[in-house]
Amino acid sequence: MRTKTAVLAASAAVLLLAGSAEAREIKVGFIAPKSGGAADLGEQIERGARLYMKLHANQIAPHKVNLIVRDSKRPGGPIAKAAAQELITRENVEILTGFAYSPNAMSVAPLVTAAKVPMVIMNAGTSWIPSLSPYIARVSFTMWQSGYIMGEHAAKRLGCKTAVSGYTNYPPGKDSVNAFARGMKAGGGKVLDAIPMGGPRNVPDFTPFFQRAKDKKPNCFYVFVPAGNHASAVVKTFRALGMDKAGIRLIGPGDITDDTQLQGMGSGAVGLITTHHYHVNLNTPGNRAFVKAWKAAYGANSTPNFMGVQGYDGMAAIFAVIKSFGGQKITADGAMAALKGWKFNSPRGPIMIDPVTRDIVQNEYISVVKAGKGGGLMQSVTTTFKAVKDQCKALKVGKCAKR
Ligand code: PHB
Repeated sequence: MRTKTAVLAASAAVLLLAGSAEAREIKVGFIAPKSGGAADLGEQIERGARLYMKLHANQIAPHKVNLIVRDSKRPGGPIAKAAAQELITRENVEILTGFAYSPNAMSVAPLVTAAKVPMVIMNAGTSWIPSLSPYIARVSFTMWQSGYIMGEHAAKRLGCKTAVSGYTNYPPGKDSVNAFARGMKAGGGKVLDAIPMGGPRNVPDFTPFFQRAKDKKPNCFYVFVPAGNHASAVVKTFRALGMDKAGIRLIGPGDITDDTQLQGMGSGAVGLITTHHYHVNLNTPGNRAFVKAWKAAYGANSTPNFMGVQGYDGMAAIFAVIKSFGGQKITADGAMAALKGWKFNSPRGPIMIDPVTRDIVQNEYISVVKAGKGGGLMQSVTTTFKAVKDQCKALKVGKCAKR
């Protein structure tokens, strides 16, 4: 015969289960640039996130995500920080996500630690960001993933015995050129000069910086600028100064061949070699299906770039967290437990969140820009590096030494 306590415990468990099956709306705060010169970045990320929500709603049914969007406007921190404060205290969001620019993510880190709200980064690439809070996981990339591999490959395979680097002067730019220099050194090459080229807020005239690089007569010129309107100016200036004719090879992370800007660069971009985790021409079944779904949702003329895929994958991670809670209110510790070791078959290839660093592990692709069949430009993968971890943390460089 069952005791009274056992009966009470059993009915409590039934009530708990019934409660969790009740349809709940999970508020997710999304912070990214939605106006100004970087609005395209925010749009890519949001489109990717919403595409995942639309295609995979059944994964969390009967629960739903309510994505509450706030405009971070500028790369600097204060607007994003105020938005995060408002989303946490007034909207009671259970997760924060988005974050195109590193300084935006950095300014929000102390808030998520204090409020115990999990944060899923969909872009911001400065390597040491996840060490700023135990409640940050990153589903995008780290600057060291592309920079280090490009450096080593450039020295070993592209004939770059010497190089000059140019970078947008803020944390991810510094990270990218430091990673490139370490990779070059590992490959037996040398960086002659690293040129800061203005901040991320406005696109500068790159001419004086590129001229300084040209004057050093390097074999190769490595450039990092943020994707979007900055990227479109790089190839133009490189050709205008005749750097190609002077025998200098232009290389960089895939930020400078952003798929939304590539067609506008013209034939001058042919031959450009980059390293990145995604471009629209990746020839995998997963990517072909993703691009098809993107165009069905946003129009034949809309092209997903790496930020689009990061928004998509970031929402896949958020759905995995929601599923693991079965409709219960999300906690930061529980969300991180669900994300550590999380694996997903992304359009970019297999991805995983490293359980120790809470950072992404993914393939990196060396690609070359070619003339496409239809008259436009396309990117073709020449080498794949599988399951790449962040070298900044592996080598314990600077702020990356802290966990
Ligand atoms: C960043 O601020 O971390 C950032 C922004 C745009 C990029 C890469 C990194 O293309």
